[in-house]
Amino acid sequence: MRPAIINIMDGAARKAARSLVHDFNEVEHLQISRKGPADFVSEADRRAENIIQKELSSAYPQFSLVTEEAGLIGDDTAEDQWIVDPLDGTTNFLHAIPHFSISIAHVHKGEILEGIILDPLREEVFWAAKGQGAYLNNTRLRVSARSKLSESILATGIPFLGREGKEEMMAVLPLVMEHTAGIRRFGSAALDLAFVAAGRYEGFWEFGLSSWDVAAGILIVREAGGLVSEIDGRNDPLGGSSILATNGSLYDPIKHLLQQGLKNRRRS
Ligand code: IPD
Ligand code: CA
Ligand code: CA
Repeated sequence: MRPAIINIMDGAARKAARSLVHDFNEVEHLQISRKGPADFVSEADRRAENIIQKELSSAYPQFSLVTEEAGLIGDDTAEDQWIVDPLDGTTNFLHAIPHFSISIAHVHKGEILEGIILDPLREEVFWAAKGQGAYLNNTRLRVSARSKLSESILATGIPFLGREGKEEMMAVLPLVMEHTAGIRRFGSAALDLAFVAAGRYEGFWEFGLSSWDVAAGILIVREAGGLVSEIDGRNDPLGGSSILATNGSLYDPIKHLLQQGLKNRRRS
């Protein structure tokens, strides 16, 4: 039985997804216009955010809400908070690349209790409730059982124009390239985490993400049996400056590899 709050989150995400999919089809046409689709995409983002905010606030008026576009809405002392990314994978969306998601988490007194990540185009809903496991639609999720680094696929987010963390990324990439079966950069951190939970890749790391990128995904990975921390091992990936999510068995080797890369950078 899905908890009632997950049904509310699911309803809000699906409603926003319909709006995003409609707008995504428009973007595909706008690619050839000279003005380009950038303004249109910011509006698509805002439309999705408004839908989610309205749905969540009418069901739980006492919760505050943090979203990427609007920041904090409501009482900042509220014990319960929604953390929302209405469109994760904006660059993909803008370029009509069909890979983006919606992420919603419920945090109670700083603890993530429920999370949902919806992939509107594949119609995949990843969700978890603390202590009750993680699911893809109605099927229980387990992280991958692979325990050899040489057979593992890791995903990451590579910094781009205006983003920090380029040197850190350049320091760790060669080691990861050397020791794993491959690196992926798909462009939605929320889906990267969901894919770790689903056992599609063994790990994911990134520098400089925000709470809305990772809140739901952290819980989903943990409830699927994975380990999530900062790259230095500290346990605050929600508020920290980096995130490392893995299937449990490769946590230490992957963490070691990334730390080794960062150490080499400091020495040189
Ligand atoms: C971005 C995506 C991307 C990650 C970026 C995020 P946005 O979120 O999650 O994969 O590499 O750092 O900012 O801007 O598309 O919501
Ligand atoms: Ca995001
Ligand atoms: Ca976003």
